[in-house]
Amino acid sequence: MSGTSVETIGVTPTGSALGADIQGIDLSGPLSDELLARLIEIWAEHLVLRFPDQSLADEKLLTLTEYFGGQQPSGARKRRQEMGLGEHSKNNPTDPRFNYVTNLDYDGNPSATPRGNGAYELRWHSDNSYVEVPPTATLLWGQKIPVDGSGQTMFCNQILAYEELPVSLKEIIEGKHMIHDGSRNTANMVQVGGKAPKTQADIKGPVHPMVRIHPPTGKRALFLGRRWDYPSTYILEMPGDEGEELMDRLWAHATQEKYVWVQNWTPGDLIMWDNRAVMHRRTAVNPSSPRIMHRALIKGDPVVSAWDNAAAAE
Ligand code: SIN
Repeated sequence: MSGTSVETIGVTPTGSALGADIQGIDLSGPLSDELLARLIEIWAEHLVLRFPDQSLADEKLLTLTEYFGGQQPSGARKRRQEMGLGEHSKNNPTDPRFNYVTNLDYDGNPSATPRGNGAYELRWHSDNSYVEVPPTATLLWGQKIPVDGSGQTMFCNQILAYEELPVSLKEIIEGKHMIHDGSRNTANMVQVGGKAPKTQADIKGPVHPMVRIHPPTGKRALFLGRRWDYPSTYILEMPGDEGEELMDRLWAHATQEKYVWVQNWTPGDLIMWDNRAVMHRRTAVNPSSPRIMHRALIKGDPVVSAWDNAAAAE
């Protein structure tokens, strides 16, 4: 596929609320400025892009991040490395710039209980919302997919979710913020070496607006981030009970099937999702069939609050 150009790429929307397939491009080769500008445009419209038949192991994935703003180390992985906790599997890269999401145990065999979260069902979340500056995007390349296709990744469109939010709920959340919870991993398990929070006061994450601006389009997107078993992410400006009740309604609205697209993986797929406007989750993974995904995060810019941008699209 050498000589990829704007003219030779194909774009096929998934037909769901978000996502498009991009054909005719080799992401391991150089990308021209023109092609990159076109990809960024398509990505702003569809929020999740799937590029089939890619070969992007390790360094190649890192090279790709450079086109989209460079990589940002994963918050959880950084913490693990700072605590000297070692790798989940002896074959995992020690390079802090990327990681494998895998159901392999330390010796490289598929397992129902590997050290990381690579085998479990993962709850809805946007990546690293528990850091001050979350990554702009995530790149996930499927090297090995379980024989039964388990471990599907689901995405939901938070721009649309905000647009269709009942006016009464829009009014209630206007101007409000959340404290985000990094105490558990995305499988809702307390981080290794961490402590389960007992009250909301134990949640130490950053404060983010409940609605953020998606810079490429200027549109508003719901920013719920993550919510694990109580106590977890909470609303700063509301009493606990009231906030929990509001979040039940918001989460039920934001994750409706009409906002979702499901990625059924084929080896070689590269998925790139916009973390500023998309949440994702994963179904459980077959414990007896290997799954190896290479993951890198794209460096974020400070969250743009909708509350400081009154003119932004409603
Ligand atoms: C993730 O939540 O970043 C991982 C998704 C997956 O393993 O499909």
